[in-house]
Amino acid sequence: MGRSATVFACSACGQETPKWHGRCPGCGDWNTIVEEARRPAPDSARKGGRALKPIPLGDVEAPAVQRLSTGIGELDRVLGGGLVPGSLVLIGGSPGIGKSTITSTALGNLAAVGRRVLYISGEESAAQVRLRAERLGDAALRVPVVAETDADSVIATIEAERPEVCVVDSVQVLYDPGLSGSPGSVGQVREVAGRLMRVAKERGVAILLVGHVTKEGSLAGPRVLEHLVDCVLSFEGERERTYRTLRALKNRFGSTNETGVFEMRENGLAEVEDASRRFVSEATRAPGSVVLCAMEGSRPLLVEVQALVAPMELVPPRRVANGVDRSRLALVLAVLSRHAGLTLGSSDVFVSVAGGVRVEEPGADLAVALALASAARGVEPAGAPLAAFGELGLTGEMRHVAHPDRRVAEARKFGLSHVLHPGTTDGLRAALTAGLSGSAARAA
Ligand code: TYD
Ligand code: MG
Repeated sequence: MGRSATVFACSACGQETPKWHGRCPGCGDWNTIVEEARRPAPDSARKGGRALKPIPLGDVEAPAVQRLSTGIGELDRVLGGGLVPGSLVLIGGSPGIGKSTITSTALGNLAAVGRRVLYISGEESAAQVRLRAERLGDAALRVPVVAETDADSVIATIEAERPEVCVVDSVQVLYDPGLSGSPGSVGQVREVAGRLMRVAKERGVAILLVGHVTKEGSLAGPRVLEHLVDCVLSFEGERERTYRTLRALKNRFGSTNETGVFEMRENGLAEVEDASRRFVSEATRAPGSVVLCAMEGSRPLLVEVQALVAPMELVPPRRVANGVDRSRLALVLAVLSRHAGLTLGSSDVFVSVAGGVRVEEPGADLAVALALASAARGVEPAGAPLAAFGELGLTGEMRHVAHPDRRVAEARKFGLSHVLHPGTTDGLRAALTAGLSGSAARAA
């Protein structure tokens, strides 16, 4: 297939230009113009369209897809029941989080049950990939590997090998020699992923595409690829901590609610199936510690929220949030100050979810508020460990969140009889009184 000259297009508004600009002439945004390859359409495609015959959806044949199990239960669950043949799955996460480990393990498991697999490493040499595989066990050592960054060679290899499942690690280091941009630039990443998408669909190869996300979330990678791929999985956690969570941000073949919990060990990632039990048993009974009954997709998960309130060292005071959303923390602090008389304006405030787990839902508000109040007053929550969930409204009211019964049931299952939630108290003040005075509401 021949190549025509490349064109430039704005990744924000789509405006095309014949040359690169720092600022888009269409929408005026800066640094949005990227190079795009335009391949001439074959002549046969230019003969004008022919009218198609629409068919009722009920008559459309939809063969049940046979999903491939990766042998990692938590990963299969997040994918919606295993890998769909011919799908393109992007696994994003910060460097060192374990993307290469989980993809190597999955390929090893697939190879062990006789699936054809291929690991394409652009970041590490084959020897480095082998060293990792040695930690993961015999199955991982059976995975065929090539170390290559040239997209043309990568595509040719996939075409020749016809694996059922292929890992490309990572999309940022592949480059298309037909484009001038450097590897990792928006134009390159988009083109490379587009080409992999076509091979995946045409050859029925499930491709796991690894992509790095930087701390700031600024990367030419996952962001620009989200619309293109079938699934976007995000691997989160802190490199220094043992726990990692895997969640689906987009899934054409399943729900985006599922989360898998893993622990990084000496010999690879271990699935944590009884995460609630672990987190509850590790929870301290000290002031500032509250167990949050979170929902991770369809699964309730108990995690420990810890807060520390200390005299301010610098102006402005510090607000550090690990595992909870920073802006939610700001909101909880404002509501505490305005509606519960707890003003922390001259204190440094730290909140974190133990174990490095991230909790995105607003249902965390009440647990964060209780942990803060308990830390600020230096009193341990009533009947510690105290469990809580619920969203805080701007007027100090408590708002209901999804699945209260399952959250309460999970707490009771692990021996937590004190659960504060919107169904047991009205208003933040009442919740704080109950949670910190020893009269916490009994779970109904
Ligand atoms: P890696 O999968 O290489 O991360 P990524 O591909 O996301 O950059 O693994 C990251 C870290 O995990 C690395 O610092 C080493 C550690 N690790 C273990 O602790 N145990 C293991 O069995 C393996 C393979 C890695
Ligand atoms: Mg890696």
